[in-house]
Amino acid sequence: MSDGARRTFALDGLEVPFEPGQTILQAALAAGHYVPHLCFHPEFRPHGSCRVCTVKVNGRTTASCTTPARDDDVVESRTEELDELRRNLIQFLFTEGNHFCPSCEQSGNCTLQAVGYELGVTTGHYNPLFPNRPVDASHPDVLLDFNRCILCELCVHASAEVDKKHVFALSGRGITKHLVVNAESGRLGDTPLAVYDKAMSVCPVGVIQRKGRGFAVPIGARTYDRASISAIAVPRREEV
Ligand code: FES
Repeated sequence: MSDGARRTFALDGLEVPFEPGQTILQAALAAGHYVPHLCFHPEFRPHGSCRVCTVKVNGRTTASCTTPARDDDVVESRTEELDELRRNLIQFLFTEGNHFCPSCEQSGNCTLQAVGYELGVTTGHYNPLFPNRPVDASHPDVLLDFNRCILCELCVHASAEVDKKHVFALSGRGITKHLVVNAESGRLGDTPLAVYDKAMSVCPVGVIQRKGRGFAVPIGARTYDRASISAIAVPRREEV
């Protein structure tokens, strides 16, 4: 295709324009079409770990955050089949961690919770595993609650690529994979993490919390209490 030509693909029957180099997810969001997603962050290279953004491209399932948009592709996203897959993934995440939303400081600002509401998830469905995970309160300003980690890797990337501190890493494989702190002691208090670091602001759930600042915004007045994540994640159509 010659430069300057309009490139588009079909998303659930709607025409979506894209620029060369954009992924399906990036193009869809830019055009005002919400595709549910969790581990994608616009400031970081997509790494495709959560699979919540799964779509079908010409009949084949793939992660929309890592799949380049291509001219004339036919993409299915909000079908009952794919939303059911997403609900399952969200329910797995809720049941393999310890998520007690009513007492979580992140409730109402939590992406996992908001995507769950978007997809109509009302229960964990599976038996909760109640893993025994610690809380690290060794840092003077930051509380680290591993119970809520969904292994999205965003804090790992933010700390390494933006903060240049490599405070966080993932260790283990499969079911044993877990978030760790890069300090000989394994304690957050022995790392150079500071409250103004990028890693402090990218956690989509409630793992990394500022100490001494609880419930400053009351429940009911938080981001996803006021509007659904699909309404917040995309620009209004008339602005596109
Ligand atoms: Fe695409 Fe997580 S948002 S795999």
